[in-house]
Amino acid sequence: MQIVGFHDYAPQGRRLATALNAEYTEVRVHYFPDGESKVTLPPLTSPHLVLVRTLDRPNDKLIELMLAARTARRLGVARLTLVAPYLCYMRQDSAFEDGEAVSQTIVGEFLAAYFDDIVTVDPHLHRIDHLEQAIPQCASLTLTATDLLGAYLEARADDLFLLGPDAESEQWVERVARNHNLPHAIAQKERFGDHEVRITLPEQGWGERTVVLVDDVASTGRTLAQAAEAVLARGAARVEAAVVHPLLAGDAEAALKLAGVSAIFSSDSITHGSNVVRLAEVLADGVRELLKSSRPA
Ligand code: R5P
Repeated sequence: MQIVGFHDYAPQGRRLATALNAEYTEVRVHYFPDGESKVTLPPLTSPHLVLVRTLDRPNDKLIELMLAARTARRLGVARLTLVAPYLCYMRQDSAFEDGEAVSQTIVGEFLAAYFDDIVTVDPHLHRIDHLEQAIPQCASLTLTATDLLGAYLEARADDLFLLGPDAESEQWVERVARNHNLPHAIAQKERFGDHEVRITLPEQGWGERTVVLVDDVASTGRTLAQAAEAVLARGAARVEAAVVHPLLAGDAEAALKLAGVSAIFSSDSITHGSNVVRLAEVLADGVRELLKSSRPA
């Protein structure tokens, strides 16, 4: 097995290779002035290639993955695994108006055409139960960062209360609460646009405890910001946020700060100053589990 990363995700790629006791090499990407990408693979040393790249800001990355995967096949790679801790386009899982692309399954089918297996972390699965429904004919493995984030929170001495900002967050909040013995509740969200959401808090109170908002993704940050404002207005001593994937696009961080969020904690699925837990060991366990399956190697 050979672990091959990309420059924009090199620290995490290297850490995964170290955890697997494997060599780390990198794809070279040259950007032409007109925006096209030239992709060059490193010398290939194994019939099983593991490409590591997280898929935030994904559009160029998907094309580059396609170029790398096709080239690897042409050069004789028999098994291609993608390790993408953040899996893009998973939130658009339904057509809400005529003609709207259901990006989840389209991007899923695209990836399935190039990779034998995909390892990812806490993909946003809302209206489906399993990643196989979004990425057909491809062995996919869903890992979670919530245990690491939960352990990080549990290790703190203060009195915490977990709040999920919407129904979709329940799967992550409940797991952290159950495994780390923390009280929790779930709010409700209505979304009116990219930057407009309304949060309705549950009846249950948290007294003057520190409330930690837990979600899979923070993108514009408006979900967490609205929840934070409501929670502080209801008397919380302090509000913080823990997310698996810190996309934090545009002015998200400023919006969170303005709303009173004192700290953000995240996994290194996406490189950000809020990263407090590293996924390398979890990903390495996932890759080892895949190796037990009977795909070509
Ligand atoms: C959707 O339900 C997700 O779990 C997140 O709550 C959502 O994607 C966050 O988006 P934003 O940060 O743009 O409000």
